[in-house]
Amino acid sequence: MNSLFVLFAAVIPGAAAERWPLRAILARAVASPVRGGQLARGGFCYYRADMQSLTNKRILVGVTGSIAAYKAAELIRGLRDAGAEVRVAMTRGASEFITPMTLQALSGHPVHQKLLDTQAEAGMSHIELSRWADCVLVAPASADFIARLAQGRADDLLSAVCLARDVPLALAPAMNRQMWADAATEKNVRTLQQRGVLMFGPAAGEQACGEVGPGRMEEPAELMRRVAEVFETGLLAGKTVLITAGPTREAVDPVRYIGNRSSGKMGYALCAAAVEAGARVILVSGPSTLATPERVERIDVESAEQMLAAVLEHMDGVDIFIGAAAVADYRPRQSERHKIKKDQAHLTLELERTPDILATVKSRRPRVFCVGFAAETANLDAHARRKLEDKGIDMVAANWVGPAAPDTGGGFDSDTNALRLYWADGELDLPVASKDRLARQLVASIAQRYERRPPGRRQHHNIVELRGGTPRKT
Ligand code: C5P
Repeated sequence: MNSLFVLFAAVIPGAAAERWPLRAILARAVASPVRGGQLARGGFCYYRADMQSLTNKRILVGVTGSIAAYKAAELIRGLRDAGAEVRVAMTRGASEFITPMTLQALSGHPVHQKLLDTQAEAGMSHIELSRWADCVLVAPASADFIARLAQGRADDLLSAVCLARDVPLALAPAMNRQMWADAATEKNVRTLQQRGVLMFGPAAGEQACGEVGPGRMEEPAELMRRVAEVFETGLLAGKTVLITAGPTREAVDPVRYIGNRSSGKMGYALCAAAVEAGARVILVSGPSTLATPERVERIDVESAEQMLAAVLEHMDGVDIFIGAAAVADYRPRQSERHKIKKDQAHLTLELERTPDILATVKSRRPRVFCVGFAAETANLDAHARRKLEDKGIDMVAANWVGPAAPDTGGGFDSDTNALRLYWADGELDLPVASKDRLARQLVASIAQRYERRPPGRRQHHNIVELRGGTPRKT
């Protein structure tokens, strides 16, 4: 293994080697194993992709006019190596320091530059761009850009996107130390922080102008760490969440089964979101081709019966149960021992109900916070509310399916969806978004409802143990 690291360290470009000393890189590399294939792409990348919460995140990198703009290239590359999707918006000033072509090549997408560009707007308008992003990071953020943002200006693409966004916005200031210390900048920064804008840095040290002090843009590796933290909400820290996902298969004979079109995408996205929220996550999955999200314990099953058994076997210590699986409602009363031959003109299969996993969990473990899904072709509200009551569960996440559904772009195997959440005395719409983003929103709502559940439904945790350095309730 060590020879791999020596080889890899040998290809680190000079400037980077200065910032990531060989000893430190080796120490980190030895301390935790490298995840498959993400150490160095083509021997160039010197980031270790251990920032799991960046995987599949959509990061809009804004670049403004500063000598530190060249570092945006490393940042974009690093974010992509960590599994994030990156788009770039740059100001006119930024293009004096680094070419759009460079950032296009590194991000893999055309760079967004102009607010009033019909072609660009037709491709992805500034509103769509702000809706696309899970997080906006402006690095470097010049003193001028910070001032314009503080004023709420929207006269160029990047400031308009920042104003239109509804996701976290982080700035990595980069300017001369005196400009950073100036009362005007100080006031602008305070104004933005009061509006919830995150400031990553600046770092202190030698500046491009030769002066020494605070105002240097944070290094790309540190910015990546801080962006990763944005997604690590800790909302479910210390909780154990059990999630079912995917379809079930009910055997007709040794080669045939009754199944459905579920891909498992929503359930798997929920697993990743719950991990990011700090939970220990157990996934009981029907057949799915999806990769197991990082830090998730996965148990594979086929039928509804097996899913129920696996769920019940792993319920000890579970705080929240999310039934995201598309469990078959019926199974053949009898599964044939041998393959059924096609020697009859008609074949009748007699079906029987499968066990209701969600209802069983709630009746056996009333204190576990239970969330169910409802995919409906009509009367969404009525069906969802009935499910809430019939199964005695705490929340239902409902969505439209079938031809009568409004255009949510959603449904089985799709990457997007829209949900309406229902609980005893409230509801919440989660508009069309990627399943990853919806999953994070749903997990945030579950965490909120879980904290506010009636006292009678609370579990009595009284043992606190330490696992991996994090205090956990059991
Ligand atoms: O009753 P219905 O199938 O409409 O309810 C859907 C919800 O119930 C989903 O959360 C699904 O995972 C769960 N379910 C279950 N066991 C079944 C059928 C559905 O856990 N047999």
